[in-house]
Amino acid sequence: MSPHLSKVVVRAPATTANLGPGFDVFGMALEDPCDKVTLIPAPNSIIKIEVNGAFSSSIPLDPNMNTAGVVAEHIIKEFSLKTGILIKIDKGIPPGIGLGSSAASAAAVAFGLNRMFDLRLENNQLVRLSAKGEVASAGFEHADNVSAAIYGEFVIIKSYDPPQIVHLKAPPNLSLCVAVPRVPPTPKKTEKARSILPKMVSMDKVRHNVGHAASLAVGFAVGDVKLIGSSMSDVIVEPARATMIPGYSLVKDAALKAGACGVAISGAGPSMIAVIDENETSPTNVAKAMKDGFKRAGVDSEVFLTKPGKGVSLLEER
Ligand code: HSE
Repeated sequence: MSPHLSKVVVRAPATTANLGPGFDVFGMALEDPCDKVTLIPAPNSIIKIEVNGAFSSSIPLDPNMNTAGVVAEHIIKEFSLKTGILIKIDKGIPPGIGLGSSAASAAAVAFGLNRMFDLRLENNQLVRLSAKGEVASAGFEHADNVSAAIYGEFVIIKSYDPPQIVHLKAPPNLSLCVAVPRVPPTPKKTEKARSILPKMVSMDKVRHNVGHAASLAVGFAVGDVKLIGSSMSDVIVEPARATMIPGYSLVKDAALKAGACGVAISGAGPSMIAVIDENETSPTNVAKAMKDGFKRAGVDSEVFLTKPGKGVSLLEER
């Protein structure tokens, strides 16, 4: 199969995963930041990766170590594409902070190759292929970030095999505050954050998480920001991971006190994300409170406001 296009440029958003009780199941796309990925057919089945942007120095260029390269290789093999591919990544999403940086590049490649070769893949198939890339960064094919990057807004992964995704819009008054602590990067952070999770879980904890996850999903379905926020409670994964984030409790308490409806670790962290009903609470006040929370733990942080955003989109093709 040969390419129909000589160039495709794709935008892929940052995402947050888990939202508390939905480990590997809930994801949400953010309005910003984003990656821009350009795909150009190349000769001799060679996959070549170039990375530009402020965070490029920490992104692997070896296609087997880079989520985008891994996804491209899978797609080329699975669909017997007679091509190589040049992948130029303009990296706008900082890696290693829990905002789905690796997922964005992976989703962009799946989306872009689908167009370039007119593969006519449904979104759930793009999720399956993009999730293959997550092995390069997390050691596991978790699909929450890539699903949110592909579908946009809020997603629930009902099933991994076969991939079944439930897609819901976010309420318009839902605002988000992300606090990113300036801590030294943890090598293989997501793998480490997964390795410390409990291997056995008591039924009362399962009951708590299922109840809160179900309520959070209903919150999106009916557009109730308070129900979404108050359901962001996880007694299985977050207690283990909180130990990796200096100031976790201070930041959480400060955000809730400032009026946030709920707070969770974003993905595998170390960023923390607050859900705010902007009709009732000033997002700027929550931002100040979260920054102050980290400061009281002796940690500098970068804090920014955003909203739920759209999924991967086409910027240019020819
Ligand atoms: N669900 C994944 C995890 C997200 O928590 O490990 C990683 O970004």
